[in-house]
Amino acid sequence: MREVAILGIGQVPVGEHWDKRLVELAGDAIFAALEDAEVNRVEALYVGNMMAGQLDKQTHLGALISDWVGFRGIEAMTVEAACSSGALALRTAMIAVGSGLVSSALAVGVEKMTDTSPRETTAALASAASADWEGVHGITFVGLNALIMRRYMHEYGWKHQDFAPFSLNAHANGVNNPNARFQSPITEDIYRQAVMVADPINLMDASPIGDGAAAAIVVPLDLVKGMGHKTLVKIAGSSVATDSLAVHDRQDPLWLSAAEKSARDVYHQAGVGPEEIDIFEIHDAFSIMAALSLEACGFADRGQGPRLALEGEITPKGRIPIATMGGLKARGHPVGATGMYQVVEAVQQLRGEAGRAQIDGVKVTLTQNIGGSGATVISHILTAA
Ligand code: COA
Repeated sequence: MREVAILGIGQVPVGEHWDKRLVELAGDAIFAALEDAEVNRVEALYVGNMMAGQLDKQTHLGALISDWVGFRGIEAMTVEAACSSGALALRTAMIAVGSGLVSSALAVGVEKMTDTSPRETTAALASAASADWEGVHGITFVGLNALIMRRYMHEYGWKHQDFAPFSLNAHANGVNNPNARFQSPITEDIYRQAVMVADPINLMDASPIGDGAAAAIVVPLDLVKGMGHKTLVKIAGSSVATDSLAVHDRQDPLWLSAAEKSARDVYHQAGVGPEEIDIFEIHDAFSIMAALSLEACGFADRGQGPRLALEGEITPKGRIPIATMGGLKARGHPVGATGMYQVVEAVQQLRGEAGRAQIDGVKVTLTQNIGGSGATVISHILTAA
């Protein structure tokens, strides 16, 4: 495998884009990435998407989007791994370029969730759980995460209020990101009084529904070294790991074993440990997922994720800043696009282009995108080359 760099990035603000079709959202992110990379063509396009087949009645996004952006004829395809489809697009682009089969590739994550009723969208999201054992009972993703959170609180003695710092940090960081779905801070009172969705998960524990697209252009590192581009960002580690779809099939439902394995793999590939990570773009779809991810990736002891947050270590000035541009909670979670937003934000931080959200001296970043309630986990380490 040859070394691979990210040459250009693009994104659209996460929101309710009722005036844009899915293909237009993807196109806007792609055109922004091409402009950023100062190129006008790529050899291949990989689209991360989870729900277009169900919600837009449209599959076959590779050919559709490549045609829309004027690349008719190139290699193009959709990749899918539920909410981790975005990161899978980047990994596919990296494998294609790294293997030498392709000299440049575009990875785009795109999702349109707000044109359909909440009922339809919620049912489509639930298709990432086990249809035989979970979906059949009508449980939603919020419901599944509520069961995990309730059990976690029982096992480790945490109160609901102890999870507040995850939401407060994400919303505070979202204020500094013009592309975030929510750009206003919240208080402990707002967290405490938020409407209950599925006990113990309230509105402030959950990521929102939203539309979005984010893209990155991947090229061989050698090709662009010394060409005078902005800070080059290297993909120093990439890993996918899997677990059972159904939570009850896991030996320990309170341990994200795929997150642990995937993080361990990328640490090994990049030659770093958790102590060298400057920022962690975490999959905080629910505050319980943020706690479990911090533990699985080696930032907190088992059952102690909330303590790290309560001690202020996850904020921009803390030991391991997470969700630096709002995370899934405040930037938003357009599911198949989310992994690419994480990557785009990590690149912004590495280049020093994160604006008011900039964290000083970022050199090594971890992004982790989770599909389902931990069944597919895709991690990347990006570094300043
Ligand atoms: N956090 C904060 N505010 C939120 C929010 C969230 N997650 N979701 C919605 N809101 C706000 C809206 O902006 C709106 O505010 P306004 O009245 O000031 O305009 C208000 O709450 C109502 O919004 P609405 O869209 O009607 O909310 P809803 O009740 O239909 O949906 C949830 C709320 C939590 C049920 C929905 O966001 C959800 O299902 N989230 C989880 C998505 C999910 O499972 N993703 C996959 C994870 S793996």
